[in-house]
Amino acid sequence: MPNHRRNRPNPPGRRARDTAGIIQAMSQRVIPLVDQRAAGWTPSPAALLSPPTGRLTDTLGRPLRDLRISVTDRCNFRCNYCMPKEVFDKHHVYLPHHALLSFEEITRLARVFMAQGVRKIRLTGGEPLLRKNLEDLIAQLAQLRTVDGRPPDITLTTNGALLARKAQALKAAGLNRITVSLDGLDDATFRRMNDVDFPVAQVLEGIEAARAAGLGPIKVNMVVKRGTNDQEIQPMAQYFRGTPITLRFIEYMDVGATNGWRMDEVLPSAELIARLQTQMSLVPLAPHAVGETAERWGYANAQGQHDPRLGEIGLISSVTRAFCQDCNRARLSTEGQLYLCLFASQGWDLRSLLRGGASDEALATAIASLWQGRGDRYSELRSSQPATGNSALRRVEMSYIGG
Ligand code: GTP
Ligand code: 5AD
Ligand code: SF4
Ligand code: SF4
Repeated sequence: MPNHRRNRPNPPGRRARDTAGIIQAMSQRVIPLVDQRAAGWTPSPAALLSPPTGRLTDTLGRPLRDLRISVTDRCNFRCNYCMPKEVFDKHHVYLPHHALLSFEEITRLARVFMAQGVRKIRLTGGEPLLRKNLEDLIAQLAQLRTVDGRPPDITLTTNGALLARKAQALKAAGLNRITVSLDGLDDATFRRMNDVDFPVAQVLEGIEAARAAGLGPIKVNMVVKRGTNDQEIQPMAQYFRGTPITLRFIEYMDVGATNGWRMDEVLPSAELIARLQTQMSLVPLAPHAVGETAERWGYANAQGQHDPRLGEIGLISSVTRAFCQDCNRARLSTEGQLYLCLFASQGWDLRSLLRGGASDEALATAIASLWQGRGDRYSELRSSQPATGNSALRRVEMSYIGG
């Protein structure tokens, strides 16, 4: 078992902003960033090394299946719910190159995670396509095998800005599929949401390039903020109806500590589906797999039956209907900290084990002991308590550990 008391956190990192910036940010309902990076615990070297079993479960009986790897903490967008401009401004200090895990380090860790049961690898960021030569990493990961001897399901979440240029090369390297974030079709709304005036047409071109390259099934993730882009729900559902692309609506979450989250800006999925059903017929579908984030709804035909040719949508209700009970996701930050929950305030420093010369067996033992000690279920606990934005001060940023 990891020993939280004996392994004290390293000294906290720098504060990334000056006082004037903080005051300005607070006046805009954006909470400044207290740097939680590099404040992880180092897992203690286990006395007895144990070979990986591929069948780990945590304290709630949840297996380890999905590894999300952040490959950069940078992004070319400034979505207000993730990297508000007032916080992630020109004074923000990003991780230096030497702090990032190299592709070889990522692949080595991924191999050990796969021996412990991981089957799906998602590359995230920041914006993962900003990491140079990302195709080389994908090609290395594609050589790995699950405990059943299968290749991993390798996928990537992108804002789509660079996708038109990179889709072919990503596919050739071994990427299986892709998820694109898109918060609206109306150009003015989209430019406002990404806050760098990026045109929606280029993201749509990126999605088309991904489709042409065979990076399917493609998913499109739309974070819905009431009063900001909820008028885009219907146009988005109409646009993707009849295509093989699955649009997923995501409840705006209180993740991180900088976005000034408020419950009144969350549009509950129940309200969203009710709004959609005033215009189109949708029917609930059975889940594909245990631990899925999205509840599936199919577009229906005139007889009220799901028509697979019309496709489906997903509802990701992490605020109003938490899905912690089957959460099989581990997250690896850009600098090699393992987070056991999206809402954790600290990670476990696997990089120091890697760079300290740990064997694969020692890494496997550390991962096993961390996963076996995991009891996180933040969203479920939050649902049972009154929701405010105030308890978020110590949480890690989504741009640092990925979605
Ligand atoms: P697929 O394998 O394609 O189904 O991916 P996924 O749904 O597991 O992953 P994706 O990254 O597309 O998740 C979509 C969104 O759901 C994320 O951007 C987050 O907003 C949210 N999400 C994903 N995983 C978690 C999680 O473990 N906890 C919470 N609270 N939200 C999550
Ligand atoms: N709430 C919900 N989803 C978020 N994402 C980032 N910040 C938030 C938030 N506050 C997710 C979006 C985006 C992905 C990269 O991260 O799904 O598509
Ligand atoms: Fe960048 Fe994605 Fe965060 Fe937007 S949500 S700022 S595109 S990492
Ligand atoms: Fe998993 Fe934590 Fe999200 Fe719950 S809140 S689904 S435990 S990452």
